Amino acid sequence: MEEKEPKKPALVAYTREGAIGTITLNRPDKRNALNLSVWMDLGTAVSEAEEDEDARVVLVKGQGKAFCAGLDLSPNNDIISYISATPSASQKMAFYNVLKKIQDTHTRLERLSKPTIAVIQGYCLGAGLELALCCDIRLCSADAVFALPEAKLAIITDVGGLQRLSKVVGCGHAREIAFRGHRFDAEHARSIQLVNRVYADHDTLFREAAKMAEEIAANPPLAVQGAKDVLMFTDRLFVSQSLEYNAARSAMIMPSDDLYEAFAAYMQKREGQFKGS
Ligand code: COA
Repeated sequence: MEEKEPKKPALVAYTREGAIGTITLNRPDKRNALNLSVWMDLGTAVSEAEEDEDARVVLVKGQGKAFCAGLDLSPNNDIISYISATPSASQKMAFYNVLKKIQDTHTRLERLSKPTIAVIQGYCLGAGLELALCCDIRLCSADAVFALPEAKLAIITDVGGLQRLSKVVGCGHAREIAFRGHRFDAEHARSIQLVNRVYADHDTLFREAAKMAEEIAANPPLAVQGAKDVLMFTDRLFVSQSLEYNAARSAMIMPSDDLYEAFAAYMQKREGQFKGS
């Protein structure tokens, strides 16, 4: 009889206990860095969460020390290797299309009918922060560190972070975060309303997030989901159109000498030297 290969554990899992669903990034040894395989599994987990009629609230978590270290910067990340140094028009189109698919996954998470809570411990960087911004509520532990480092990596934040961040923290803070690419701590995140609450440690964060989820789940779901729907109503068109432009604008500068330099600098643990080419 033909032996079946053992099924690989999903890089993102959807589970549920009672009325609380949980989407968990499950690549802790790489600080839950995101590559195409992770995003594909995230897409599946988001669909499972949407289809789960017994889930009234969905938590979004990262396994291990960090919520998510953002885009996978290793040279074998399929998204980057997608596009050669002198890309053909079809490679540029393929890159644009893959970006749109990832954007759609994030947008599906944002538009999940039930409320979502991002539970953030440790690092929450780049695309990890973009993911957290798709959630309705963000809670973090005191050791959380946030950034959109894309500007330092010669790429444009392009899976919804720019659109969603400015709605949450306002244009001035969003521009500072996007242009500087600096890391900032949980207290600053709370002061600009990026997170609703900061908890002393991971255990307290997980416990209090579960409590909040239970409190929301105990309310009449039609009213809660109705409130979410109405709160999102005005942003829908703006976000969709802006994401379309964002994907095209990103493809326009991919790849660059500065991108290769930024990735090499990360791997070699040194500062990048950028020329604007
Ligand atoms: N891409 C690929 N691998 C990553 C990664 C990323 N974004 N972030 C972390 N990892 C990997 C590390 O290479 C390391 O792998 P190894 O054990 O095979 O060497 C492992 O995850 C643990 O990372 P490490 O740096 O040892 O952990 P840390 O807790 O000391 O630091 C970070 C965590 C997130 C601060 C650090 O890994 C980092 O700066 N990562 C890059 C963040 C970034 O710029 N992301 C891009 C956003 S657009």
